[in-house]
Amino acid sequence: MPFVTFEGIDGSGKSTLLKLFAQHLKQLGLPVEITREPGGSDLGRELREILLRPEGVPPCPEAELLIYEADRAQHVATKIRPWLDQNIWVLSDRFYDSSLAFQGAGRKLKTEDVIWLNQFATKGLKPALTVLTDCSVDVSQKRRQARKADRFENEKTQFHETVRQEFLAIAKKDPERFFIINSEKAPNELLQMLLTEVKKRGLL
Ligand code: TYD
Repeated sequence: MPFVTFEGIDGSGKSTLLKLFAQHLKQLGLPVEITREPGGSDLGRELREILLRPEGVPPCPEAELLIYEADRAQHVATKIRPWLDQNIWVLSDRFYDSSLAFQGAGRKLKTEDVIWLNQFATKGLKPALTVLTDCSVDVSQKRRQARKADRFENEKTQFHETVRQEFLAIAKKDPERFFIINSEKAPNELLQMLLTEVKKRGLL
């Protein structure tokens, strides 16, 4: 069964689209698991708390990347792989492209290091499809205003702009895996566009 990941800047609407897509698959009678990074496993929920709390001394970029990768390794080994082996559709709110965009471009760590660690943590597992919900930083900031700020939401506009541009660059380099969707449209319209794409790719 397909493994589909959703990526984008915070407030880009990826979680809303993921939920609508999951509902649609369930209505078709397909087995689906929804998960997320960080925090998709028991260990991951504890790591998520450490990663996102705004209080205290923040981890240095290298430590931050390693904690995301620890979360990912546990997530793949204890949740994603077993679900895929049981022929369940797996939809993940973020996966390894987030480390390339946030820790690589955002925190200025070397791309080769992030690629190597992603490979190590996932043992080479690749999504069949990655949906990039793309919108301007302005629009995402308006959507985010209603939420409790975490460590990344307190970052300056420039940080989010850098992350957005990196996501777009990664997606453009790998059009076979990525579907870029302009998420300024209404959620139901986005779902219809995604369904068309998924059918076109023969995943449904
Ligand atoms: P997320 O749960 O998507 O936050 P929200 O619910 O606010 O959209 O992700 C939490 C944060 O973790 C998000 O700001 C991006 C960051 N993150 C990284 O920096 N690197 C990573 O590898 C992952 C998976 C997430």
